Amino acid sequence: MKTQINAQGLRSWKDDQLQQGPGKSNGQLIALSRGLMRVEQDLIRSVSSTLHDHLGQTLTAISFTHQAILNLQASDVPSDIASLQVVLGQYIAQALLEIRHVLMDLVPPLLEDNGLAFSLENELRSRGLQNPELEIVFFAKPDFDEVRYPTQVAYATFMVAREALQNVVKHANATQVVVTLEGDAKGIDLTVVDNGNGILLSNEPSHGRLGILGMQERAMAVNALVKVSPNEPSGCVMRFQWFNQLETPAS
Ligand SMILES: Nc1ncnc2c1ncn2[C@@H]1O[C@H](COP(=O)(O)OP(=O)(O)O)[C@@H](O)[C@H]1O
Ligand SMILES: [Mg+2]
Repeated sequence: MKTQINAQGLRSWKDDQLQQGPGKSNGQLIALSRGLMRVEQDLIRSVSSTLHDHLGQTLTAISFTHQAILNLQASDVPSDIASLQVVLGQYIAQALLEIRHVLMDLVPPLLEDNGLAFSLENELRSRGLQNPELEIVFFAKPDFDEVRYPTQVAYATFMVAREALQNVVKHANATQVVVTLEGDAKGIDLTVVDNGNGILLSNEPSHGRLGILGMQERAMAVNALVKVSPNEPSGCVMRFQWFNQLETPAS
């Protein structure tokens, strides 16, 4: 039997867990979060492989076939057919580009190869291009990527930064956001600070608002801390801290 997972299923599963939350121990909640992250990663892996290896390959084959037809086509082909061929070529190129964008959104492609700071900088650059009215400033220790963090930790940090940035774009009405990434073998300290409207925090997670909750779950799954709070004098600050449990503090 094949298990099917969809976004709605994940959401109602998560809602159930939230309702049961207060009765559960911290250890159980951490295990649940890790389980959810694993389901998410499996789902992402399966969707990306379908997009990349199947749909992507089929579209590439369509593109080659189209090119071959163009090469074989007689030079005196009627002009309406020739212009439809041009439009078809544009649609194929557009579809390939859209697949590439979806893949980049699903899995940060540079994370494992190039490290966290490089990937984050790349993400910020593309956000900046999409939102020219927002000034995005990035600080990372120059040697940040000399330390390689466990894949799950790097992934969680990246995804938390991405959500925080999405929130700035979506809600803050800010003119500037400063992203600071500090870290060494002992841990990671990431902050995203904007100068926008600020945030009113209620203690209850509101229905359908899963971004901040998702950040908390990602953090919990890798034993990190995350906090979203109002910033002084204005705006909002998100801080994510991961402490390497394998590094013993100096005595
Ligand atoms: N940087 C921010 N500035 C202002 N408000 C924010 C910011 N980040 C989050 N919020 C507020 O917190 C709410 C919850 O955020 P989130 O959980 O990510 O849900 P969503 O983005 O889907 O609304 C948002 O709806 C918004 O009102
Ligand atoms: Mg959000």
